[in-house]
Amino acid sequence: MSAIPIEVKLPSTPYRVWVGDNLQQNIIVALKDLSPSSLMLVTDSNVAPLHAVAFIDLIKQVAPAKTMSVPAGENSKNLDQLSRLYDFALTEPALDRDSVVVALGGGMVGDLAGFFAATLMRGVRLVQIPTSLLAMLDSSVGGKTAVNHARGKNMIGAFHQPSSVFCDINVLQTLPDRELRSAISEAIKCALLGQMALFTWLENSVDMLLRRDPNALRHCVTTCVQFKGAIVEKDERETGKERILLNLGHTLGHAVETLMGGKMLHGEAIAIGLLAAMRVSAKHAALPVPAIKRIENLIRKAGFDPTIPAALKDEDILKVISADKKRAANGTIKFVVCPRLGHAVALDVKLDAQLIKDMRG
Ligand code: GLY
Repeated sequence: MSAIPIEVKLPSTPYRVWVGDNLQQNIIVALKDLSPSSLMLVTDSNVAPLHAVAFIDLIKQVAPAKTMSVPAGENSKNLDQLSRLYDFALTEPALDRDSVVVALGGGMVGDLAGFFAATLMRGVRLVQIPTSLLAMLDSSVGGKTAVNHARGKNMIGAFHQPSSVFCDINVLQTLPDRELRSAISEAIKCALLGQMALFTWLENSVDMLLRRDPNALRHCVTTCVQFKGAIVEKDERETGKERILLNLGHTLGHAVETLMGGKMLHGEAIAIGLLAAMRVSAKHAALPVPAIKRIENLIRKAGFDPTIPAALKDEDILKVISADKKRAANGTIKFVVCPRLGHAVALDVKLDAQLIKDMRG
């Protein structure tokens, strides 16, 4: 399998996302191009035993490197772990402004290490090496970095584009089944937004993804990264009408994820949010009802249960959604809907108990 470079053509910070396998040589070349004074590898306790030693040996060929591992899981995406990273970075041999942070892990590591890189000494360069399918498809590309706050996910963050991203399909062979499956909801989201060929491919080939067929994984990652890269090029900071569409399914998804307190993976919550968004689409954007069934079938075929957990009360869901960054002062929220499959728009929808009822269907 050869490596494919996908260009994200941002005017100030263009970069490449490499998708392939055995990307060691590509990583060395890209790091050498950055001429770092030193490197800091940030990883987590799940990924470290599998990959950290090999990666640290690799990157030490470029510059002095040190490693810090945080406990695995979304609970580490917080200010305490961030503070540990600053302490370690500033302890001798300390990083300087020419250092490069290398994030080796899933979405949590990418977001945490990304925010750390964005803020350390007002910003040092960042290289993303995602090791989960979710991080390859979505979070490692586009420069969103953040930690969570008790009031909601990603409440403290910054845009900080990576210098390069390396998606090595080989590392997905060691990803736990549940995490692999969880990412498929982000691929479904990408298909619903504007990739109907991907939607049909997923309907036919989701089993191949779940079996970790390398060609299927590569096709899925490449298609989603190309799609997301094009959106980020048009609307890097979500100030226009494009990037907000990537939040399809995330209004409810983030609320469910927050309320489930770590019992549900991001992608599992997004699967629930996507089906809910289709119900809202039928009501507010005339999405034909048979389309909802088609999406539900795909979500179930991928192995998700898209039912909003019965334990979650409408008023609690409403409270968490009300803290959403996309809420407006006039009691509405920017809600992404699909008037038809493969096309999405953001509507101002009234944020009230009826909206939660509509989402439950
Ligand atoms: N994951 C949504 C975005 O990057 O904008």
